[in-house]
Amino acid sequence: MQYRSIITGCGSYLPERVVTNAELAERVDTSDDWIQTRTGIKQRHIAADGELTSDLALTAAERALAHAEVDANEVDLVVLATTTPDSTFPATATKVQFKLGMTNGAAFDVQAVCSGFVFGLAVADNFIKAGQAKTVVLIGAETFSRILDWEDRGTCVLFGDGAGAVVMRAANGADQTGSAEAGHNRERGVLSTHLHSDGSTNDLLYVDGGPSSTQTVGHVRMIGREVFRNAVKNLADIVDETLDANGLTMDDVDWLVPHQANRRILNSTAKKLGMPQEKIVVTLERHANTSAASIPLALDQAVRDGRIQKGDLVLMEAMGGGLTWGSGLVRW
Ligand code: UT7
Repeated sequence: MQYRSIITGCGSYLPERVVTNAELAERVDTSDDWIQTRTGIKQRHIAADGELTSDLALTAAERALAHAEVDANEVDLVVLATTTPDSTFPATATKVQFKLGMTNGAAFDVQAVCSGFVFGLAVADNFIKAGQAKTVVLIGAETFSRILDWEDRGTCVLFGDGAGAVVMRAANGADQTGSAEAGHNRERGVLSTHLHSDGSTNDLLYVDGGPSSTQTVGHVRMIGREVFRNAVKNLADIVDETLDANGLTMDDVDWLVPHQANRRILNSTAKKLGMPQEKIVVTLERHANTSAASIPLALDQAVRDGRIQKGDLVLMEAMGGGLTWGSGLVRW
């Protein structure tokens, strides 16, 4: 039996506390104007004391399961993309598995920083295609506020906390949508995923701590301008690679759901690709860069406000520390 994965539901969660740019300007030498002009960010959500990545992930997962009308006990795999796990081990995914009330299946974390969600999408899709999982909850969840240096204005204004999740289910040939177009795959589900990493660029974006090196958690360090330059190139390349692999052009894509890091990166990528702004789902002004959570947060927004409809072609792309970058093309 040849399986493919269909996304049947999504959910998200943002912590209650909102921190505006103006509030940050009271702590570091920055301004609302600088942050908005250079990044497009207006505010971010910050987890409460004691509110952990697993808590954010759990709420997003519960909402996605409710949206998909799937019971937690039908889930046989939880994949959690995060850079900010509750602890070094066990995997935060196992906590979510337990709190969801799951009594079977497997759960593990995936670490690809801001590309975590698309890396997780590839992992989940391949488990389903291989017949090793039937129902997957894929989550991107982060409490980046815990690894920020709140005195470094070059990074602390950029990130926020949040979580998003999707439910993916195995399907075979029966579930199609729309009319057949010449040469185009109209089957619902994940059409392809594409992943890259380049460890020679580790020092552009990293955390200066870790269990094996300093035995501390460390803080985010970034050469922003270089990351920006790499992002625009790598993201345009990965979109081209994805479209080529599927025999499609940008005109075929209904929605681009990019990792939400910087409005100027989104604009430059869109310009390079000739993609109209209206087709790009942008949520970063509301929650800043939430790393692995940003794509599922944007997906959830666009599904719930009715933009993304069944049968739409949705292209996701991301780049993050590593550097890592990747994409996923989904017929919703
Ligand atoms: O999720 C994936 C990883 N992250 C990214 O994709 C982020 C990629 N990079 C970026 O988004 C941008 O590079 C930043 C938003 C981080 C910075 O924007 P930029 O236009 O590249 O600014 P810059 O780093 O070249 O800095 C320009 C100036 C500098 O001052 P001088 O040296 O020109 O006097 C910085 O010190 O802006 C200064 N600056 C700030 N000023 C006010 C840096 N951060 C701030 C700040 N407020 N928060």
